[in-house]
Amino acid sequence: MIFFNTYISESVFCFFKNKKNILVSVEDANKYLQEQCGIKAFFENDSELLQLTNKLNEQFTNEVCESDAEYGDFQTNQNLTFQIAENLKNSGVSPKIVIEPTCGKGHFIIAALDAFDDIEAIYGVEIQKKHIWQSKFNILDYFLLNPNRKIPNIYIIHSSIFDFDYLSIKKSIAKKELLIIGNPPWVTNSALGMMDSKNLPQKSNFKQHKGLDAMTGKGNFDIAEYITIDLLRNFGDCTGNMAFLVKNSVIKNIVHDIPKLKLPIANMKKQNIDSKKEFDVSVDAALFICELNKNTEYSCQESDFYSSEIKCDFGWKDNKFMSVLSLNNEVDGISPFVWRQGIKHDCSKVMEIESEGNIFCNKLGERFTLEDNLIYPLLKSSDLKTTVAKLTRKMTIVTQKFIGQNTSYIKEFPQTYKYLNDHIDLFRMRKSSIYKGKCDFSIFGVGEYSFKPYKIAISGLYKTFHFCLVKPQNGKPVMLDDTCYFIGFDTLEQAEYVWELLNSDLVENLLKSITFKDAKRMITKDILMRIDLKKVAEKKGKKGFLTDLGKNTNLQLSLFD
Ligand SMILES: C[S@@+](CC[C@H](N)C(=O)[O-])C[C@H]1O[C@@H](n2cnc3c(N)ncnc32)[C@H](O)[C@@H]1O
Repeated sequence: MIFFNTYISESVFCFFKNKKNILVSVEDANKYLQEQCGIKAFFENDSELLQLTNKLNEQFTNEVCESDAEYGDFQTNQNLTFQIAENLKNSGVSPKIVIEPTCGKGHFIIAALDAFDDIEAIYGVEIQKKHIWQSKFNILDYFLLNPNRKIPNIYIIHSSIFDFDYLSIKKSIAKKELLIIGNPPWVTNSALGMMDSKNLPQKSNFKQHKGLDAMTGKGNFDIAEYITIDLLRNFGDCTGNMAFLVKNSVIKNIVHDIPKLKLPIANMKKQNIDSKKEFDVSVDAALFICELNKNTEYSCQESDFYSSEIKCDFGWKDNKFMSVLSLNNEVDGISPFVWRQGIKHDCSKVMEIESEGNIFCNKLGERFTLEDNLIYPLLKSSDLKTTVAKLTRKMTIVTQKFIGQNTSYIKEFPQTYKYLNDHIDLFRMRKSSIYKGKCDFSIFGVGEYSFKPYKIAISGLYKTFHFCLVKPQNGKPVMLDDTCYFIGFDTLEQAEYVWELLNSDLVENLLKSITFKDAKRMITKDILMRIDLKKVAEKKGKKGFLTDLGKNTNLQLSLFD
């Protein structure tokens, strides 16, 4: 039966039906229900009680309530929560206080009640009222089916975790063993921004990135990451454990940021789960476990949740962050070149074009003519599979030579200016905040470096360590899109020399030891900036302009474009 938009089991329904005599006043009902299942303030007011008693006059029907994709809402199935709690118990975890910060339908609370015998208090917080009810009904149902289980005090709190005052709980924990358990929302701040959702922490730039980083890639974070770090900051000094189901990227980011965050946690474990099986989603996720109130440790052990097979340890070694701690990383250092991301315009329907003779066409199916001046050959990730890039299929319009250039100069090219203006609405509809307050047709990822004739490029999306040599086409430098990273050179000789080093076993081994295969972008600028090509050249005995770096200051400076 659906009640308060929530499924109510037959046993709970019958329980209330048979206890109509206690459902007379909120005080009496709450007192009785607390004795039965531990929940404090089961009904918040008279109206809630009245709604329930009215519902009881209806016939019981067994309907299933659809789950909600909003709020990063992926409820953990009861089976998995039982396995997790059982494993924790077997590893010696025995909490007196349990916190489930985004408790949903209460499956982790039920699992904790079932596994641990010494719980004194449970705190569950949840933003959606329907889940608050579902948690309460599920907990009542659990105690109706298990009348001999010890009943702790249970607080199911209707609040956003972002507004919740942790201090109110902290006092009651004192020196008691704590378990923070759950599965915080699977949604990113940028996805919430697209939905115009307010379900965000106030400090939305909590990673404190600056400028463009704050608005794009690095500024994007999972709210589960914020919640996890916030809890570790608030309860890190309590004795106990955390066990959280989160995306792999969240665990990687937490372990990565530990030196900066100085979190007092140790014995970190990442136990991979099958998200397709458990949640019917294709997102790499795992159970993150750690001990609280310990001397900070900097590595995390990865294993399979189901088989317990150990995979590898990742984390910090010699002040370097590694995806596989046991691998050799002898050319890890600082790149002598600045790696660049390709052009970002978020308007591919207009900006990516193909030519048929003198006629161009775009993704909107339009055919038109343009001046040649602002048109450049374009390569995308999928074009970089070869060792040397072939003739490009696509072209792009490069509207600025450097970031922030005034685009009114485009009037000099009337056909191009008209074409862009005919689609100005599409440019103005670009969602990303980086375009706000900028000239029409603005692009990013452009500078002097974009116009270097020779380039070495790699895809950020593909799971390979393959570098592609890019030569100019029809006298024009080739542009890369924003899924690619590259370095540019003035001569083919320099480009070929570096290209050979980049495709060496030394670089491949380094990349294997510092990249995470499950990352959305396995290759990033930060990763590429760690390739110490000077060291690679020395180790390979490849004399050339790189091994002369340092002796020739002018050359070195020109490489840092
Ligand atoms: C991934 S689900 C997991 C639910 C539950 N922890 C479980 O494991 O079954 C995330 C839950 O977080 C809730 N939620 C989302 N934003 C929240 C917020 N700001 N404060 C509290 N709960 C929130 C959602 O309603 C949803 O129930």
